[in-house]
Amino acid sequence: MGDREYLYRFYRDEDQSQVEAFRCAARRRPWEAKAQVVIREAPSCLGTEEGNEIFVAVAGDLVVGVVVCAPDPFEPNTVWIKSLGTHVDYKKQGIATNMKFRVMGEFALRTGSAVAVVSEVHKYNIPMLRLNDKLEVSRAPSTEHGKYFDCVIQAEPDIETQNNFHS
Ligand SMILES: CC(C)(COP(=O)(O)OP(=O)(O)OC[C@H]1O[C@@H](n2cnc3c(N)ncnc32)[C@H](O)[C@@H]1OP(=O)(O)O)[C@@H](O)C(=O)NCCC(=O)NCCS
Repeated sequence: MGDREYLYRFYRDEDQSQVEAFRCAARRRPWEAKAQVVIREAPSCLGTEEGNEIFVAVAGDLVVGVVVCAPDPFEPNTVWIKSLGTHVDYKKQGIATNMKFRVMGEFALRTGSAVAVVSEVHKYNIPMLRLNDKLEVSRAPSTEHGKYFDCVIQAEPDIETQNNFHS
């Protein structure tokens, strides 16, 4: 299925049941299971002090990708990607890459200035590390979580890939 068939948009109430049952993790990969838990819990955390926002990729009525983000409460030009997942049946079609680009465009546009898009990626999470490599995301061993990398990419408000999410 080609990229054009997916729509990238803001989360809606009608997505709740699919997001809460979203399956992006492979068996026996605990770092993927952790990312999946964050996604599944995200709808029930909306509106709390965590300030999470959810965006989805959809194919018709089907949720095929989810990204959970939150602006850093102390750093106005920093946004955290708390989890990013592609449904197990839809991987390797560019969905996660498109979602990450859109997070960059969305928050840089909103802020009107450069924004640091930050995430923590487990050192064995090869798909996510490779994806980040392709985007030239910089990484350094996390000072807080030994098995993770802190990954950062700077998003400019005039980046070419300045796609944001549909409402
Ligand atoms: C990581 C993840 C989000 C990637 O989603 P995806 O939609 O399949 O990724 P994309 O199609 O955009 O892949 C882009 C690039 O990432 C790399 N990549 C993706 N999957 C890969 C894999 N299984 N092995 C190696 N590289 C991989 C490739 O470089 C790929 O480019 P290519 O297709 O031209 O080779 C997905 O595997 C997933 O949901 N994993 C479980 C949840 C998770 O661990 N999330 C990250 C932690 S927050």
